[in-house]
Amino acid sequence: MRKSFVAGNWKMNTDSRSSVELAKAVVAGSAGLAREKVTVAVIPPFVYLPAVVQAVSSSGVAVGAQDVYFEPKGAFTGEISPGMLKDVGCTYVLCGHSERRHVIGESDELVGKKVTVAIGGGLLPILCVGELLEERDAGKTEQVVARHLKTGLAGLSAEKVAAVTIAYEPVWAIGTGRTATPQQAQEVHAFIRKLLAQMYDANLAREMCIQYGGSVKADNAKELMAQEDVDGLLVGGASLKAEEFVRIIQAAA
Ligand code: 13P
Repeated sequence: MRKSFVAGNWKMNTDSRSSVELAKAVVAGSAGLAREKVTVAVIPPFVYLPAVVQAVSSSGVAVGAQDVYFEPKGAFTGEISPGMLKDVGCTYVLCGHSERRHVIGESDELVGKKVTVAIGGGLLPILCVGELLEERDAGKTEQVVARHLKTGLAGLSAEKVAAVTIAYEPVWAIGTGRTATPQQAQEVHAFIRKLLAQMYDANLAREMCIQYGGSVKADNAKELMAQEDVDGLLVGGASLKAEEFVRIIQAAA
């Protein structure tokens, strides 16, 4: 059985004090939950990673980074390597979040390189895929998701792909309050799993965790998680409020 996985992407929010407070509140709120049922991660801005790692230490709450660069070191001003993330205690890393694809301008190929080096560096990538509203309206959802998936996982063996979590985040649902319906989410999640089975094998596809993200709240988390192929949630805005995030974790557990 696939284990649920809830991650809170804090994006460019919090400060040195509130990041630690939020991390501690997530630890306290999720302390009683069965760890074998749900994995919990928080994903703060780079600069607060060490403090947040310390705040969650020995709690079972994992920490992830929002991005990574594909070189190990050198003259890449402003970038952060997989080794650096590992060094400060990160377990997960987001690759190809839609804000990096569509605001910062990352290409599919760049995202694929990041996934590969993240795994090589001992991190567990969360590969984000998802269509824009105009792509959905044009009936291109599956085409876009397939492209993100194939370029994101390019060149990886089945053994390595097993380290990856896929996050389906329809761009039109992010930060808009317009959540995909559970049926819309399930349709795309089932498509992703089918594609993974074609690209690798059915057993691996069955084991892989596929998160949904986009306006997840405490009051829609349960219904989304009830879908057969929705294994977890990647939460933005609602992960900044400890109480609401904990309710989302409870819904997923
Ligand atoms: P919201 O939950 O704020 O819509 O953000 C989703 C997201 O982008 C998580 O990575």
